[in-house]
Amino acid sequence: MITVRHSPIHGHGVFALRRIRKGTKIMEYVGERVSHAEADARYAHKAEDDNHTFLFTVNSRTVIDGGVGGNDTRYINHGCRPNCESSVEGGRIFIEAIQTIATGEELCYDYQIERDPDDAPDVDAVFACRCGATDCRGTMLVPPPAPPARKPPARRPRKPAKARRR
Ligand SMILES: C[S@@+](CC[C@H](N)C(=O)[O-])C[C@H]1O[C@@H](n2cnc3c(N)ncnc32)[C@H](O)[C@@H]1O
Ligand SMILES: [Zn+2]
Repeated sequence: MITVRHSPIHGHGVFALRRIRKGTKIMEYVGERVSHAEADARYAHKAEDDNHTFLFTVNSRTVIDGGVGGNDTRYINHGCRPNCESSVEGGRIFIEAIQTIATGEELCYDYQIERDPDDAPDVDAVFACRCGATDCRGTMLVPPPAPPARKPPARRPRKPAKARRR
């Protein structure tokens, strides 16, 4: 269904060998399951401006290192206008088509890499996106938080407390 070859976005990418229908579960993102501490240690030797990893965060405890025992999914690049998405099912990660993908098209999903309070000021440059979408947001990180409103909002009736929804 897919093949790995040189990508105009970055290094190797994953391309459709045939038309892949929207909703198709393409492959599981597999690799060695490690702690965040172990994942950090594995990449600690890299230069500050080298963002390349095969890591996929599952949750607050587990990271999958696709560089160890991984499959072709580790080569799927980030795109700001993605044709795939990742989903977590019982601690496993699956890549699924969110639109019908034509033969030869590159697969991509939005990495949505989290920002951390201790990120370097040039973090967006380090994680610069080269997906080529007309509405590329320029970074593989989640969009920066909106700046605080300059004027306090008008007083409105308070909504009843609700359970937080994702
Ligand atoms: C899981 S690898 C994807 C495969 C990668 N192209 C390769 O050849 O190894 C993830 C890395 O690819 C690069 N990458 C992926 N999508 C990118 C994009 N849209 N813009 C710039 N670099 C990207 C980044 O270095 C990222 O850390
Ligand atoms: Zn982009």
